[in-house]
Amino acid sequence: MAEKTMYEHLRDEGLSRRDFLKACGLLAAAMGLSSAPPVAASGLPAHLSRGPSPARMVARAMQARPRVPVIWLEFQDCAGCTEALTRSHSPTLVDLVLTKITIEYHETLAAAAGYQLEENKQKAMAQYHGQYVLVVEGSIPTGAYEAFCTVGGRTALEQLKEAAAGAAAVIATGNCAAFGGLPKASPDPTSAKGVWEIITDKPVVNISGCPAIPEVFTGTLANVLIFGAPPELDSLNRPKPFYAQTVHDRCLRRAFYEAGKYANSFDDEGARKGYCLYKLGCKGPTTYNACASLKWDGGLSFPIQSGHPCLGCSQPGFWDGGGFYQGQSAPLDRPEVVMAAAAGAVGLAAGAGVAVANRSQKKSAGTEE
Ligand code: SF4
Ligand code: F3S
Repeated sequence: MAEKTMYEHLRDEGLSRRDFLKACGLLAAAMGLSSAPPVAASGLPAHLSRGPSPARMVARAMQARPRVPVIWLEFQDCAGCTEALTRSHSPTLVDLVLTKITIEYHETLAAAAGYQLEENKQKAMAQYHGQYVLVVEGSIPTGAYEAFCTVGGRTALEQLKEAAAGAAAVIATGNCAAFGGLPKASPDPTSAKGVWEIITDKPVVNISGCPAIPEVFTGTLANVLIFGAPPELDSLNRPKPFYAQTVHDRCLRRAFYEAGKYANSFDDEGARKGYCLYKLGCKGPTTYNACASLKWDGGLSFPIQSGHPCLGCSQPGFWDGGGFYQGQSAPLDRPEVVMAAAAGAVGLAAGAGVAVANRSQKKSAGTEE
């Protein structure tokens, strides 16, 4: 019997044609599609990749493509990306994508454990060699510390290389798998690395963030499932539809930044009025992620909207790049911050210079603790 297509699976699960088309429209938007990709890039026959709208194109592709096996490996992680995905507040969108895949191996979600689970993984990798999507969550310890993370008695490094060899596509989800994340923070006790530092013979798509935004992950995975290739990537291998702009570019406090109105402490008048959080260490100007537009919890809010500066969680080295409540290098269009950074450069990193500026402003405002 021929394998069911993605659409046939959904239809059998009770999804009406109308709801299917509506969901395809949502998915096209989540994938950042504004026009049909070239036929060659999509890997689809011409009659499927041409269409008047991205939504129609997605619908056509969904009806033609079979489901795709996924192997999901977890190494030095907290399972936060899995948690975020399974608790997503965009159930239609996430369901739509997750029903398009068969998860052949996932330590956190699997009912099986131990030898049985490891055996299933080996079988799946053999059966779907060259076809499965490999998703990696967590960083990989290397060098003399390779043995710091083992699963089933085998090191993470060994397991990653084995699984990547047979994968059609590799997705690193979360900052740990993309850039090393928290495990890589100084003093980096395990010589932690991101997947793309190890797997260099095929493209690794980085969905960075701490955790990765569920809609960004599902939008990227959908692109791979439907078009057989990830969207265009930036210089850090992140999908451009989601990482082309900084958080600052789309920030709802941006008008206050332009007007030079800042919160100087978390409980001052500026904070209460929703002023810009730059002087509290916001890294939005140098952080590329989609949270200011997609937000979290079904578009409810994101860190800056909730009163917290951006930590730069989608950038490499974010834990050592300032951490909580410390400033960053100053953009050159803020003279007072640049001067403070120059003063700080005598004995401090430029990032600490912003903290000096914060303190002097607190002093002059009489708010220093
Ligand atoms: Fe930019 Fe951060 Fe200020 Fe928003 S809060 S405008 S991202 S500096
Ligand atoms: Fe991360 Fe900054 Fe967004 S901390 S979730 S990139 S606001």
